[in-house]
Amino acid sequence: MSSSATQVYLNAIANRRTIYNLDPTLPQNVYIENIRDVVQSILKNTPTALNSQENRAIILTGDAHKKLWDAVIKAIPGENGKKRPTSARDEAYGCVIFFTEQDTVKKFQADYPAAADAFPVAAAATTGAAQINSWTALETMGLGCHLQHYNDAVKAALGDLVPAAWTVNSQLCFGNTVMQPGEKTFIDNPVNIFN
Ligand SMILES: Cc1cc2nc3c(=O)[nH]c(=O)nc-3n(C[C@H](O)[C@H](O)[C@H](O)COP(=O)(O)O)c2cc1C
Repeated sequence: MSSSATQVYLNAIANRRTIYNLDPTLPQNVYIENIRDVVQSILKNTPTALNSQENRAIILTGDAHKKLWDAVIKAIPGENGKKRPTSARDEAYGCVIFFTEQDTVKKFQADYPAAADAFPVAAAATTGAAQINSWTALETMGLGCHLQHYNDAVKAALGDLVPAAWTVNSQLCFGNTVMQPGEKTFIDNPVNIFN
């Protein structure tokens, strides 16, 4: 039905899962620089509207990761809400933080006024693509990942580590998988061909 390259790609997409039970280590022969190179390549090659290239990312690990999640834990009211950021701090080896560089979005809105409303929508689409491409790629490297959205608290905690114009979209937490996720159920969702 498909070439083996296509099947490898489809398998990677199907195998990407949310894995909450992590250990703060990396798989054997995977280094943080490998993760950086993979995310760098994905940011470069994930398309953007009119090649506007507003996707940005950083990777936190070690003390920087722990300090960020400590600040998020402090910013979240109530004990229940602290569980996930606490597990991110203590059980993830690191996180990739995804941003949109808003000065670029504004410039394209100004340069193409007829399409001004489309650029923020396109920016949201392309960061999603970069995030899920990265999530899938990290899982092919043997990492477990989960995606979080403590965006306001993360932005506040980062301070001037990143430019003010970078808005935070998500945090992809990664580490070694401790427990595989449960089976996933799917709706019946056919793609019909009309001609
Ligand atoms: C756009 C998007 C946003 C998500 N936001 C969160 C989140 O904020 N916190 C979280 O724990 N999981 C989040 N998830 C994970 C989803 O709940 C998960 O992908 C979904 O239940 C399917 O499970 P799977 O990832 O194992 O395939 C998000 C996933 C997507 C695609």
